[in-house]
Amino acid sequence: MTSEQVRETFLNFFAKRDHLIIPQASLVPEYDPTLLFTNSGMAPLKPYFLGIKPPPSERLVDIQPCLRTEDLDNIGDSNHHTFFEMMGSWSIGGYGKREAVEFAWQLLTDKAEGFGFDPEQLYATVFAGNEYLPADDETVEYWTSAGLPKERVLRRPAGENLWVSGPTGPCGPCTEVLYDRGLQFACGPDCGPTCGCGRFYEIWNAGVFMQYNRTGENQYEKLPFLSVDTGAGLDRITAILQNTASNYETDLFFPIIQTIETIAEKTYGQDPSLTKAFRIIADHVRAMTFIAAEGIVPSNVERGYVLRKLIRRSLERAEELEIHGHFLGQLAEKVIERYGDIYPPLRSAKTSIIEVLMEEEKVFAQTLERGRRELEKMGADIDAFKLFDTFGLPLSFTLSEARKRGRTVNTEKFEQQMSQQQDRARSAARKESYEPEKIKTAHTGAHLLNAALRRILGVSVHQAGQKISPSRLRHDFTFDRKLTPEELKQVEELVNEQIKKDLPVKAEATTFAKAVRSGAEAMFEEKYQKVDAVTLYSIGDFSRELCGGPHAASSGQLLKFRVDKEEAVGRGIRRIYATVEG
Ligand code: SER
Repeated sequence: MTSEQVRETFLNFFAKRDHLIIPQASLVPEYDPTLLFTNSGMAPLKPYFLGIKPPPSERLVDIQPCLRTEDLDNIGDSNHHTFFEMMGSWSIGGYGKREAVEFAWQLLTDKAEGFGFDPEQLYATVFAGNEYLPADDETVEYWTSAGLPKERVLRRPAGENLWVSGPTGPCGPCTEVLYDRGLQFACGPDCGPTCGCGRFYEIWNAGVFMQYNRTGENQYEKLPFLSVDTGAGLDRITAILQNTASNYETDLFFPIIQTIETIAEKTYGQDPSLTKAFRIIADHVRAMTFIAAEGIVPSNVERGYVLRKLIRRSLERAEELEIHGHFLGQLAEKVIERYGDIYPPLRSAKTSIIEVLMEEEKVFAQTLERGRRELEKMGADIDAFKLFDTFGLPLSFTLSEARKRGRTVNTEKFEQQMSQQQDRARSAARKESYEPEKIKTAHTGAHLLNAALRRILGVSVHQAGQKISPSRLRHDFTFDRKLTPEELKQVEELVNEQIKKDLPVKAEATTFAKAVRSGAEAMFEEKYQKVDAVTLYSIGDFSRELCGGPHAASSGQLLKFRVDKEEAVGRGIRRIYATVEG
């Protein structure tokens, strides 16, 4: 099965069972300060589980691009990634555990409609319970009646099978499916389904049974209804179906690996000590391409820092493969070629993605070169912190250069100095996240734009992400087709009319529930659900939106609003670039 067929099989299976295919959310959840990146299919759907917002359908399905940085040290093994696509399905207060297990079993084992896995190779895990929450015995029953022998249903502790979406928020016991890839992958005679060596692939979180809202450490409130949240990594399912040794030999990854082979003039797998370097570069290049496509540029804070880190880690690994010269652009091009059909915005952003990556690559190559020269000057007593702090040389690079020269580095001292430096960086990051005064007008322009879109295209249009710079704004919204030139013109005119009216911008302290009841437009994200007091900004009677500000005092402070460009971002999500003069 090709990865394209895996996608289709998953979506069709659930669509046929009345699940609505929903648009992918942006990789950047702009209104959720608790998340740097969308990290699971359920993240953008939290308001549905909490009962704050009605879902467009009780049953949903999608394939959501996700990014996780907590697994960074595992990258290079067979199946962990920074960027990945999560195939997810949901029942929001509809069917429960029994049906979820039945669907999972059918999808996994059915040869005609599903993936046709051999049932003999499947295991499931369920929550064993703890002192706060009961064991999930029901789900054991449902697996056995679906066809899985009882001895292959394993009870696991909270750390494994109590899925939490964050320190607070919807959570519940989960049931996961493991696939036994066979004895040839066993780590030894004691190899078993829970040893984590790679023989037993966790292929599907086949149901998080969202029953609780986690309000603190070991504190759970029952949710008004039970929801089912499932998630399967596309890479992993594809690896099993294509019977590859790891995710990197699948049709999703191998074209990228092959390009690295060409650039490095080395064969992947020939020298096992280099396999990890190949894999890390392939994983990171895929991730950095998707991040750069969001308009993020390398920096020292937050998302920009993640991008910078991925680029730099790749360049360090490239040294191991003896790659000389620039290569990220060529690899990013491969990623865009591989994923462009499914994510068209990658194609439209191609030039800027490649430019951003190559620029950082150039700067970092110079950093390495300069750092090398400084290290050379230091003699026997290498000051790794100075190399890092003043010259930007990563410790791993310093260590390997020191090794080559038969010198040692005091890493303990380095760690100490680093933690002091991190404290300084944290306060700098906090400072950078404050929005400077001058973006006020662009921010107000964004509210006007959102309200204008909802008036012209309908109230089913909602904001799906946003990026604001002093005079430009990028606004993502839910809509399922390209806007006509007339519609764009109408939107632009409607905004400019409100500017001419010089409407007052008012901020009103209210509660989230009240604001929602009054019909205010809000990104129903954690930011607002968690806090008691929220600020509702209104611009005359034209726009009412929850927001953190800052805003212009009246719409007349904007001189002119211009739509520059409209394009697709993902399925069902459009993006407008606009300029605000003022
Ligand atoms: N939210 C769960 C996970 O990320 C299932 O989708 O594993």
